[in-house]
Amino acid sequence: MTTPLLEVQHLSVGIKRGRDYRLAVNDISFTMNRGEILGIVGESGCGKTLTALAIPGLLPGGVSITHGDIVFENRNLAGLKNRELYGIRGNRISMIFQEPMTSLNPLLKIGRQIAEPLELHGYTDKALIRREVLDIMEKVGLPGPERLAGEYPHQLSGGMRQRVMIALAMICNPRLLIADEPTTALDVTIQAQLLRLMKWFNWNRGTSILFISHDLALVSRLCDRTLVMYAGKLVEEGPVRDIFRRPAHEYPKGLIGAIPSKDRKGSPLVNIPGKVPSIDDEEELCGCPFAPRCSHKAIRCTAAFPGRTDLGGGHYVCCFLPFGKDAGKNGS
Ligand SMILES: Nc1ncnc2c1ncn2[C@@H]1O[C@H](COP(=O)(O)OP(=O)(O)O)[C@@H](O)[C@H]1O
Ligand code: SF4
Ligand SMILES: [Mg+2]
Repeated sequence: MTTPLLEVQHLSVGIKRGRDYRLAVNDISFTMNRGEILGIVGESGCGKTLTALAIPGLLPGGVSITHGDIVFENRNLAGLKNRELYGIRGNRISMIFQEPMTSLNPLLKIGRQIAEPLELHGYTDKALIRREVLDIMEKVGLPGPERLAGEYPHQLSGGMRQRVMIALAMICNPRLLIADEPTTALDVTIQAQLLRLMKWFNWNRGTSILFISHDLALVSRLCDRTLVMYAGKLVEEGPVRDIFRRPAHEYPKGLIGAIPSKDRKGSPLVNIPGKVPSIDDEEELCGCPFAPRCSHKAIRCTAAFPGRTDLGGGHYVCCFLPFGKDAGKNGS
C-alpha cells in the first residue's frame, strides 16, 4: 500500500490570549492520498483557513500549532524550522487564496512574479525560466503570455489575477495545492473555468488539491471526498456523494438544506438558525459545539464531544445521534 501524501494527526491550532491559547482548530486528524482532491467545508470562522495555513507553516503571529503532527511526504512539518519549510513551500506545497491582490506584488510585472518560485528554488538559467513562465501562463489560459508577462497586476481582471496565482502556484509542479476559497470573489462563469483548470492539473500532473470553501455545492463539483468542520472540530468526513445523499451530522444536513436545488423546487430553503460560536465562548464549546443549533440535541450532547463513528465506505461522523431522527432506517 502506498503511504498517504499528507497525514494530519491530532492537530490543534491556538490563538494566544495572555499566557493561554484558545483553540481555533481542535484536535483534527485526516489523511490525503496522492492525486486526491479533498474538500474542507464549513461556515466562516470554523477554522478552515488556520488548518490550511498550519500545513506549510504559514500561521500568522500570535497563532501557533499547540499540538499534533503534519506528516507530508514522510516528514513532520510541525517540527520543522522556518528555514527548512522554505524548501517545501512553493515547491512541494503551494497555496492560492481568495484575494490574489493581497498575494501579488503590485510593483512587480506578472512574468517576474511567476518566475520567482523557480528562482527561489535554485533555477538560474534565464532562458529556461522564461520558457517555463510562458509555458505555465499558456497552460492556465492567460492569453498572449509574451505581452501579459510585461504587465502589472492592477491591469488584469480578478479572474485573470487568479489565473496568475495558479500559474505562480503551479510553476514548480507542487505535489499539494492548497486552494483556500479561490473562487469566492468571482462570478460563476469564471468560477467554473477555474475549477476546470484545477481539475486539469490534478488529472494531468497528479497534483493533490486541498480545496477549502464555505460552499458545499462547489466542493461537490470538484472533490471526491470532503471534511466538514464546525467550530474548529472535524464533525463529518466521507465521499461527497454519500454526505450529500445522506448526511449523518445535523450540521452538513443544514448546509445542504440551504442550497438551492432543482429536486427541491418549491420547498423553501432552510438556513441553520444561530451562528458559529466564538473561540472564546467556553460554555458553547463544551461538549458538541453544534448543540445550541441542533434540533436533535440530547442531554449528553453538552457533556462531551462525541467520538468518531465509522459508518462504512470511508464515511465517518462525530455525533451521538448519527442521522438524527432517521436513525435506524435504511439499515443505519
Ligand atoms: N490571525 C488571527 N488572530 C486571531 N484570531 C484569528 C486569526 N485568524 C483566525 N482567527 C480566529 O480563528 C477562528 C477560525 O478562523 P479561520 O481559520 O479563518 O476560519 P474560516 O477559514 O473557517 O473562516 C475564527 O474565530 C477567527 O476569528
Ligand atoms: S452530538 Fe448531539 S448536538 Fe451534536 S450534532 Fe449530534 S445530536 Fe446534535
Ligand atoms: Mg477562511
